[in-house]
Amino acid sequence: MAARSSSRTNRFFVFIFATVVVALALYLFYHFKPALTDALVAHMGPRAGEDSLIRIPELILWSILAFLGVRAVSTLIFDLLFRIRRGYEAPTLVRNIFSLLAFTGLFVLTFNKIYAEVNLGALFTTSAIFGVIIGLALQDTLGNFFSGISLHADRPFQVGDVIVVGAQKHTGVIESITWRAIKIRTFQNHIVLVSNSNAAKEAIEVAPRENLNARLVFFGTLYTDSPAKTIHVVRESVRDADNVSEKITPIVRIRNLGDSAIEWEIKYWLDDYAKYNDTDALVRQRVWYALRRSGLTFASPMLTLHTERKAVTRPTTAEEQIADRLSAVDVFSPLSTDELKQLATATMGHVFAPGETLIRAGDEGSSMFVVHNGRVAVQVVERGKPRTVAVLTEGNFFGEMALFTGEPRTANVVALEETEVLEIGHAAMKHIFETNPSLAESISWTIAERQADLAAGSLQASQNSIQESAGVLASIKRFFGLR
Ligand code: CMP
Repeated sequence: MAARSSSRTNRFFVFIFATVVVALALYLFYHFKPALTDALVAHMGPRAGEDSLIRIPELILWSILAFLGVRAVSTLIFDLLFRIRRGYEAPTLVRNIFSLLAFTGLFVLTFNKIYAEVNLGALFTTSAIFGVIIGLALQDTLGNFFSGISLHADRPFQVGDVIVVGAQKHTGVIESITWRAIKIRTFQNHIVLVSNSNAAKEAIEVAPRENLNARLVFFGTLYTDSPAKTIHVVRESVRDADNVSEKITPIVRIRNLGDSAIEWEIKYWLDDYAKYNDTDALVRQRVWYALRRSGLTFASPMLTLHTERKAVTRPTTAEEQIADRLSAVDVFSPLSTDELKQLATATMGHVFAPGETLIRAGDEGSSMFVVHNGRVAVQVVERGKPRTVAVLTEGNFFGEMALFTGEPRTANVVALEETEVLEIGHAAMKHIFETNPSLAESISWTIAERQADLAAGSLQASQNSIQESAGVLASIKRFFGLR
């Protein structure tokens, strides 16, 4: 921005300087004109025509002044007025046409004034050779120019739109449209110039910037996997990915029943279409994690040749490792080795991608989670923006509030990196509470502390929702039917 305004200031000073120089030259010219005429007459003799020679520099100087004047007016109209009235810069082509017409008009006026005896119109119309030369030399240029005009009249695309154009399918964001060509910045950050006349002949695919543009991403699953489950799991995993529009829910549908796979497509809409490469990749990543967590399997020709399928719903880590991890969780420290092993068998491992939401505030919840690897953020949404209340790492647990009190989830929990969690359900906890009454008490402390944290940071939190740990303990006991 600063660079742009300093280059504008530079251009302004160059303009002032050039105008002063030309004005001075004109002044000097008129001052010395009689002397120059005399010198010329003395040198060449009193022949007709010496006067028209003298007038050449006069014409040149006035033309330069006219050029500078046209530049100034064009900047005033298109840079300033256009931006103030319409909020964006005028298209380069419109500016160029204006400058060309204004300059030609001024030049003809100046010429007529200085060479009043020459009929400019007759000179042009009678000069057939001149016409042919100009016509041939400018054939391509004029073609581009008129194609540019028709493209502008149609307004099929604008600066900032993503287009696919030409036989080579050049894809990128339009940077400018001039009288000669469309300038595209490709996703490899290269510049491609497509001449207007070529663009006018080709089919052009446009994804307008202000439009909700959609993409399709494909994947395949085994025939043994339930389509209804696949649709639900994939749609939920994709809908909150970055740059996937919240305005339209993604569609997951079967596009073909292939030889070795159910072939799926995900149709999703983007907030910023220019970033579709990254978003496609993120969507594929989300699908991978979601399928893996839900026990669904990607199909590939190689997989279908296998006669055996791995049970992917099994915990992803060995039981001892899980028991080890659980023993490091402070609230589980009173548990015996056998109890830890039992608990480990009852847990389920899940892997989440960075940025994925594990728990949504307000949802029902009937399980808690221990972070096995990675990190998660506990977030509450305030005035539309997420505020991080805590970051939990390996050995920390979350989701206990809804599990133990039966209330809806109190916060969002989002993976900060690839995170593996161990899910512990209601039945497993009930069993443990029965044999370890002290556990309910230590968990009630944690819950009361976390509730206080949530309430302390939030203006909306009602005092009533904060329970003393004794109150939490009572509701845990009630909920689990403990004495
Ligand atoms: P639950 O309400 O089931 O779902 C959201 C979880 O975020 C919640 O359980 C707690 O486990 C966790 N949580 C809420 N507040 C805090 C906090 N202040 N510190 C750590 N974790 C919290």
